Amino acid sequence: MTDPIAHAPVTLDGAWQRLAELAARPAARDIRALFAANPQRAVHFSASCGDLTLDYSKTPIDAAAREALFDLARAADVVGFRARLFAGEAVNATEGRAAMHMALRSLPADGYTAMLPSGREPASQIAAEERARMAAFVARVHSGELRGATGERFTDVLNIGIGGSDLGPRMVSEALTVVRGGKLNAHFLSNVDGHAFATLARELDPARTLVLVASKTFTTLETMLNARAVRAWVADSLGDAAVGTHFAALSTNAKAVAAFGIGEERMFGFRDWVGGRYSVWSSIGLSVALAAGWEAFEALLAGGREMDQHFLHAPFASNLPVLLALVGIWHVDLMGWRSQCVLAYDQRLRRFPAYLQQLEMESNGKSVRLDGTPIAHPTCPALFGEPGTDAQHSFMQLVHQGSQVIPVDFLLAAVPDHDRPEAHLALAANVFAQAEALLRGKTLEEVRQEMLAKGLSSAEVERIAPHRVFTGNRPSNMLLFRQLDARTLGMLIALYEHKVAVQGAIWGIDSYDQWGVELGKVLAGGILPDLQPGAPVGRHDSSTAALIARFKALRS
Ligand code: F6P
Repeated sequence: MTDPIAHAPVTLDGAWQRLAELAARPAARDIRALFAANPQRAVHFSASCGDLTLDYSKTPIDAAAREALFDLARAADVVGFRARLFAGEAVNATEGRAAMHMALRSLPADGYTAMLPSGREPASQIAAEERARMAAFVARVHSGELRGATGERFTDVLNIGIGGSDLGPRMVSEALTVVRGGKLNAHFLSNVDGHAFATLARELDPARTLVLVASKTFTTLETMLNARAVRAWVADSLGDAAVGTHFAALSTNAKAVAAFGIGEERMFGFRDWVGGRYSVWSSIGLSVALAAGWEAFEALLAGGREMDQHFLHAPFASNLPVLLALVGIWHVDLMGWRSQCVLAYDQRLRRFPAYLQQLEMESNGKSVRLDGTPIAHPTCPALFGEPGTDAQHSFMQLVHQGSQVIPVDFLLAAVPDHDRPEAHLALAANVFAQAEALLRGKTLEEVRQEMLAKGLSSAEVERIAPHRVFTGNRPSNMLLFRQLDARTLGMLIALYEHKVAVQGAIWGIDSYDQWGVELGKVLAGGILPDLQPGAPVGRHDSSTAALIARFKALRS
């Protein structure tokens, strides 16, 4: 697990200092000049894992900056962190847990183990056993052996969960079934907003719906409220006895699952060493397997494992997660660009940015180091995205001409899963054009010449031309792959998971806890009684108190 590149004797402070010097060079942001200076730049600043290529040449990183970034990774002991991560050590220090989601996609021979307070457990083996239970369940549903209470086959699966118990399975199910349809139609209920279930209740027939309650803790307010609502909906229509036939649970909390009334044989578990946002590979992915098929689920896992192996063994210079992480560090910490845009030119990846928002921002949206001291550097950028080409007709104006620079990750499959080549070529032309436009820009002189050539008066040219200037030199990565099949999707997810791990190791933070989501949950619990008609409004700041009073007045 050691990186073949020799460790440079650089301290962490020394590495940051060197990077700051490189970033302060007058030409440090001139990507066009880097292309002019090196005709081989695209080759020298690209790397691949199988069919998946990362081209990061359109970023303001030259050979010196890249070497200094590698030094930073060495000084931060990314290699040591990677070894501890894969050894199942308690890298989630504030919760005393391993982050062993890689075991879920491992082969028995990988033999991953995970550290527990009481010792180690065989993570690969535990994952394989649970996977076998899931496979058997999926086969019985697909064959029609398991049916609803009225004897009808299940045609729909409803996953009730939120955060990591929703975003992963929702994104993957949609990506793998939206074009060809699925073996079952997958639906997702996450929001506690009653409108979400009201919409689904209109579409679904309880007699043909299999319900999965997906919650690592099985205590999450939104999920439990929704699960109770759906249980009542099934019971009202099919009788109380039907609940056992229509429900299954995906959780680590066997006690709470039993208390909810779901039998042991209908509970698919995973362990504490799987974080919510890393859980799509676990039983939380059951909706994926039911919708896209068991083979697709296994291919997803195989893709994830392929990326694990690449992350473990490829040298920094060709290691996709390391490179993606370091490019991100350069952008946010050295260039001062605090946002990140993700544009998948693929309708099937519509939910990919939403998935990444939790993965990146819940993992690395933190300001203290593992030892509790403040981090001296900016950490996770704010991440957003939409599918291309839709994004071009909404916020890309700002990305091209806005007053802040926003790095973009573009994603594109070379071969589509439809038979309209003209549509795919139009899509591809657009993604390449966006990246090229961001890089190239358009000078005032070019705009003037263009307008004059079109016969506009000089007065008109001078008035309009400044509005049509593009600064260019705006950075982007391109992730290009052959096809968006289940395996490639698994690779992409694991790529970003490990990117997050590398950045977390460099910033020195715990990427696997999420204390930042707690305060709001606690306050909501305290506010709920205040909302009852006639209840006194408790102690709040004056704005919150006034808003609660107004809310109640509007409802009375
Ligand atoms: O509120 C954040 C969070 O804890 C996420 O980390 C998690 O993915 C989500 O809630 C759902 O939690 P659970 O799976 O336990 O219901």
